[in-house]
Amino acid sequence: MKPLQRHAAAHSFYHLGQREMTNCACAGLACFAARADRQRRWQTAICQSPTVYCLGKCYESPSDGEHDMRPYIGAHARHTVLLGNVLAGGVRDLATYRERGGGAAFARTQTTTPNELVSMVQDSGLRGRGGAGFPAGIKWQSVANEPAPSKYLVVNADEGDPGAFSDRFLLEDDPFRVIEAAAIAAYAVGARRGYIYLRKEYPHAAQVLLGALEQARAAAWPDPSFELELVVGQGGYVCGEETSLLNALERRRPEVRLRPPQITRRGLFGAPTLVHNVETLCAVPWIVTHGAAAYADLGFSRSRGTKLLSLNSLFRRPGLYEVEFGITLADVVGQLGQGLRRGKLKGLMVGGPLAGLVPPEHLSTRLGYEEMQAIECTVGHGGVIAFADDTRIIEIMAEVLRFGARESCGKCTPCHFGTPLLVAMSDAAAAGAPIDASCYQRLIDALAQTSLCGHGRGLAEFVLSVQRHYREELRTWFG
Ligand SMILES: Cc1cc2nc3c(=O)[nH]c(=O)nc-3n(C[C@H](O)[C@H](O)[C@H](O)COP(=O)(O)O)c2cc1C
Ligand code: SF4
Repeated sequence: MKPLQRHAAAHSFYHLGQREMTNCACAGLACFAARADRQRRWQTAICQSPTVYCLGKCYESPSDGEHDMRPYIGAHARHTVLLGNVLAGGVRDLATYRERGGGAAFARTQTTTPNELVSMVQDSGLRGRGGAGFPAGIKWQSVANEPAPSKYLVVNADEGDPGAFSDRFLLEDDPFRVIEAAAIAAYAVGARRGYIYLRKEYPHAAQVLLGALEQARAAAWPDPSFELELVVGQGGYVCGEETSLLNALERRRPEVRLRPPQITRRGLFGAPTLVHNVETLCAVPWIVTHGAAAYADLGFSRSRGTKLLSLNSLFRRPGLYEVEFGITLADVVGQLGQGLRRGKLKGLMVGGPLAGLVPPEHLSTRLGYEEMQAIECTVGHGGVIAFADDTRIIEIMAEVLRFGARESCGKCTPCHFGTPLLVAMSDAAAAGAPIDASCYQRLIDALAQTSLCGHGRGLAEFVLSVQRHYREELRTWFG
């Protein structure tokens, strides 16, 4: 019998290798945002331990690998689509999962054709929660249409965006839902094999998933003809980018791949592949059980359904929230987070470091893909990091670029060599030194125009959006 878990191949590319997570300190952006009031603890932790970019504990930042408490978890939607089992404290054995109604969705697919399932997902309006918001139904249709003899389903559990911990709780508290959802998607598109690619920074999730996969296999549940394997990464943000992730699964150096071909046509091992984020997939059993119309009834505008938001420790009530699209950012700050623990709000990073910073004057914006884009920000993966007014914008820029430089896959010159230069210039500016603003802008333009993937492009968009929204504060350096 094949093992249910393996690790990505050892490559110099990865940051973590065989390192244990328990002695790591977190250098993610939520910990950066929190450090001003706990500077000493953060600095001590960073100095004494190996660092990682985000341990998924942003609700108790600055965090480390050893301590972990459970955050506040709340559902603020007309229907709880995603967090039911998480709110119940977690369901880690199959019998309990089934007692609580789990498995009903997969059972229903046995009287539904794959085409009907694809249409159902299309009609629900479900869009990818990994960051890009691409309509899930279109991807399902593309993979289902391919006449290939073998196809793959991949669960993207890399959750690399500093500030996000929603997938972590779905994986740790509701692993059977992930397995059931993967089996449904695989059945719909005709895949017989699947992989869960999990980041190494979530060792507890690895343990839970392995246990769940073993229980599922022993019970031949939900579909004995679908094989699902867990692969644990070795540290590398860019491995969350789907083509880089496929290279990691193939045990190649996890660089981003050129497109076309799209991975729905030629993905893992050259076969049509459906890659989905954990949260996207976890909505599928609810859609199958309650119907596409019920799901599409939630949310607003072109953003249907519910979204998980992870709120960082700067809020009075940090935690994991399920909301309907359409909630205003002001309500995210005021009602969910109950305001900030210190200072005034300087800006809100909603969808990770590549997603821009929402200034206080735009808090009336409603959460939705197009609505966030209109203010040059994104929904991203829904990690919400509040920055207080004692944090300078130039320092936030330097920190995001530092993260970007460390995580570049090295394939494009502006991203590989340009980002470290931008870090150095931003650090110099933060220290009060004059910088060559036109050189800075040229590097940003090159990043925006020539980057192969959303990493380099997103870094440039972040800087451009911050420069527009915080023009006055940045005038000293950028004119
Ligand atoms: C630099 C970069 C990092 C990414 N990291 C993740 C990640 O950690 N998790 C994730 O689900 N998607 C991530 N994505 C998006 C994936 O490439 C892909 O769009 C997603 O897994 C598709 O699933 P979805 O349609 O369910 O969103 C990343 C994209 C980029 C450009
Ligand atoms: S933009 Fe950066 S991370 Fe993306 S492919 Fe180019 S070098 Fe790699």
